[in-house]
Parts: sequence; C-alpha cells; structure tokens
Amino acid sequence: MKTLTFEPIHETVQVRTESDLLQALLAKNLKVLMACGGKGICATCHVHVRRGADQLTPRTPREVKTLSYITGCDADSRLACQARVLGEGVVVELPEGMYVERVEDLMSLLGQRAQMHILHPINGSVLIAKGKIITRSRLEELKNLNVEVQRLRDLK
Ligand code: FES
Repeated sequence: MKTLTFEPIHETVQVRTESDLLQALLAKNLKVLMACGGKGICATCHVHVRRGADQLTPRTPREVKTLSYITGCDADSRLACQARVLGEGVVVELPEGMYVERVEDLMSLLGQRAQMHILHPINGSVLIAKGKIITRSRLEELKNLNVEVQRLRDLK
C-alpha cells in the first residue's frame, strides 16, 4: 500500500501499489467525470502532481499528446487514469473548477452565477468563468458539447 495526499483539501488516502491516481481519487469520493472512460484522451482527470512525481509511472505517449492540448497544464500535470503509483510521498493538487459533459446539466443553474469555473471536458478550457451569470445564450453556444463528448466516447 502507498499513501498519497490531496491538496488543497489536505486529505490522505491509501491505495495498492501500482493503482492509478484515478482509483485514489475515487476512493476519496472525489467526483471525476471520466468523460473518455479512462482512455487518457480527455481533461476530466487532469491533476497536478506537486511532489513525488518520480514515484509514478512515466507519462505514456497518449498522455503526453492529450496534455498538450489541455488548458492549464504545467510541468506537473498528469492524467489520473494514466499515472500509476509506485512509491510514497505523492502530493496531488486538484484543479479548480467543475467539468461538465452535457449542456442540460447546467440548465438548473440558468440565471445564477457560476460558483466555480465550469470547464470543458475535453480541453479543460473555461466555458463559464467563476462569478459569471449562466445565460441561455451561453448555453446555446455550448450545444455542440454533447456531440463532442459522444464522439470522444466512441473513439477506441
Ligand atoms: S478519464 Fe479521460 S483522460 Fe482520464
């Protein structure tokens, strides 16, 4: 077993050696949209590994490619579904914001201010910034989101 820490929530979790970071997130009941179903081709499990990166398996070519188009990536970025835990001392910082995969999921928030950034599930860009009002016209602009996510899921 290996122990990991999540920031900024200051939570620790124990996972089996060689488990992926995604399993660690799920073990802590942290919601991960997994828009691609764990194939390493979306933004929804993007995390920053602030310490202990050398205690994880190296990035896969697919992961490197996906990270290259995700907004908000830095040198510490990993896709949680691709990084397996080999050793102790890994500190994972969770990105700020909420991913959304269907425009309908935002309908109940129509007319309200976004409590946090609402993020694109494939490229991680900010669709609606924290504090901005969620308008019908903005949701109209986002109607292709459902199609994009379905296309992603259909990829082998
Ligand atoms: S769940 Fe899509 S890349 Fe990890």
